[in-house]
Amino acid sequence: MYKQIIRPLLFCLSAENAHKLIIGALRLVGCIPGTNWLMEKICSIKHPALEREVFGVKFKNPIGIAAGLDKNAEVYNEFSALGYGFVEVGTITPKGQPGNPRPRLFRLPKDKAIINRMGFNNHGMQNAIENLHKRRKGVVVGANIGKNSLTPIEEAPSDYLKLFRNLYQYVDYFVVNVSCPNVAKVTSLQNKQSVTEILEPLFEFRRGQSQYRPILLKISPDLDDASVDDMTDVMIETPLDGIVATNTTTSRAGLTTSAKSIEAIGNGGLSGAPLTKRAVEVVRRVHTRCQGRYPIIGVGGVMTVEDAKAMLDAGASLVQVYSGMIYNGPAFVRQICKQLIADHEAAKATATTEQKAE
Ligand SMILES: Cc1cc2nc3c(=O)[nH]c(=O)nc-3n(C[C@H](O)[C@H](O)[C@H](O)COP(=O)(O)O)c2cc1C
Repeated sequence: MYKQIIRPLLFCLSAENAHKLIIGALRLVGCIPGTNWLMEKICSIKHPALEREVFGVKFKNPIGIAAGLDKNAEVYNEFSALGYGFVEVGTITPKGQPGNPRPRLFRLPKDKAIINRMGFNNHGMQNAIENLHKRRKGVVVGANIGKNSLTPIEEAPSDYLKLFRNLYQYVDYFVVNVSCPNVAKVTSLQNKQSVTEILEPLFEFRRGQSQYRPILLKISPDLDDASVDDMTDVMIETPLDGIVATNTTTSRAGLTTSAKSIEAIGNGGLSGAPLTKRAVEVVRRVHTRCQGRYPIIGVGGVMTVEDAKAMLDAGASLVQVYSGMIYNGPAFVRQICKQLIADHEAAKATATTEQKAE
């Protein structure tokens, strides 16, 4: 029904208005008492084969919503009720900010892709905290944090610390976002020294807390291999708990959408199908370098059940979707989970047969 009816209707609207409509509709649904419970009963698939424990947090399944969909932590309960195993809210900045001028969000249906230059538009930390008070039991939420656009790059560490301290008690894990191509100079922070300067104060604050909150670093698919290795080494050498790979790409390679249309869109991060190969490559590289000893959240171009499996096979402990949800609809998580259960059952059956044969 999504692909035949809802998606064509949504695609009649501008991409940003469609996004607003989805968030608004989910908020409305969430306001009706009992709806989340009912949605959970209808949509969620529960199975021991789907359950994961990653960086000390329990997940009902490994498929989550990537940062950028629920920027203001407004509808994470609803996404969870729709069956998603976790929701990464944000990017949240200390102060609310409007982001870049519109239009700033574009669909590329021929490529099953999206280009965005939203620029960390969000209502700010205090608003997110108010919304996070409404968390339903068992809903896993991560906070993706970033600097305000107007904060000079040298002062970035203080923005990240402010967010970390204030949001600490409200979320299950943190993602330090230094890989957004749409905020001036943010991606330049992806070097060992700048990342360490941001992370060290967070580690120090965490040492004084009674509860542990895992910290992950979100990296760009545009890093060269040496820089991916550098970021992995930061994880190995410091108390960083994991890596989220990857954010959107500035590359436009291999698109079938006309060059003229691409040029008319202009700058921005590309997500969706054109990103699949590189995102899986980065996940595999991180996994190999850290010898599989650290958790990775795989994100980027997960458009099919097979893409999700490829991410897991490459070494991801958890997988996130954004563009895949826009193109496939909210039930995408169910399709992936059903296949993961079927694969598990098949592997179990094979193992039993082999045992009997011995
Ligand atoms: C419209 C849009 C907004 C996004 N906003 C954020 C953001 O605020 N913070 C962030 O870390 N990633 C953001 N992302 C990147 C996604 O979290 C994800 O890393 C990327 O889209 C690749 O996954 P996908 O191919 O499944 O979309 C955004 C992506 C899109 C399409």
